[in-house]
Amino acid sequence: MSEALKREAAAMALSEVRPGMRLGLGTGSTARHFVHLLGERVAAGLEVICVPTSEATASQARDLHIPISDLDALDRLDLTVDGADEIDPALNLIKGGGGALLREKIVAAASDAMIVIADGSKCVDTLGRFPLPVEVNRFGLGATRRAIAAVLARHGAQGGLELRGESAGTPFVTDGGHLILDAFFGRISQPEALSDDLLDIPGVVQHGLFLKMCRKAYVATPNGVEILQ
Ligand code: 5RP
Repeated sequence: MSEALKREAAAMALSEVRPGMRLGLGTGSTARHFVHLLGERVAAGLEVICVPTSEATASQARDLHIPISDLDALDRLDLTVDGADEIDPALNLIKGGGGALLREKIVAAASDAMIVIADGSKCVDTLGRFPLPVEVNRFGLGATRRAIAAVLARHGAQGGLELRGESAGTPFVTDGGHLILDAFFGRISQPEALSDDLLDIPGVVQHGLFLKMCRKAYVATPNGVEILQ
C-alpha cells in the first residue's frame, strides 16, 4: 500500500494530540509518518513528551528534536499511536512485524488509550493470516521452540514456526536482545486461549497478539480514512 495512505492515517491521529500530552510512539513505516508529522508540530511549538517503542523510533525522534523520556520517569502516558500488521473487527491486533512488539506492548499497556494507524490492507475478519511473532529468550531456544510448536498444533495452525532471519543466515535480534519465532496459523480462532497458552511457556517473553488494547483505528483507503472504534 502507498506511503500516501499511511501518511493520511498518521495525519488523522495527529489531530488527537493535545499540548502537554505524554505520548507513546510506535514503530514501523506507518508510525514513522506519525513521528515525522509530530516533529513538524514540535518544531512549530507544540509541547509534548514521548516514549519511543524502539531504538529506531527513538533515533528518529531525536533527529526531529522531539523530547523523549521513558517509563521510569513517566507514570502513565495519555496516548500511544502505533501501526499494526492485522486488525480484526473488534480491534484486536497482530503486531511485531517490525520486531518491536515487547516495547510496543509495554508502552501501550502504560497508556490511557492506544490508537492504531494503518492502510486498509491490514483489516481482516479473523486474525492469523499474518504470522504471529513470538519473542523468546535465547536461552533454551530448542525447548521453547518445541513447546510453541505443540501450542500451534493444539490451536490448529496451518503452518509452522520460523526463527526470524534464520533463512538469511542471521537471526533477527530485538532491542531487548531476544529472538523472534514467527508462527504461521492461517487463522486464529481462539486468540485469548492462544495468548494464555503462549505466555505459559517459560521461554516466551511476549507475543504479538494485542487483545482489547486498541481503542480506535484510523484506516486509510483510496476512498478516505475510516475510523474504527
Ligand atoms: C512493529 C510493528 C509495526 O507497527 C507493524 O509491523 C506495522 O508496520 P508497518 O506500519 O511498517 O506496516 O508492530 O513491531
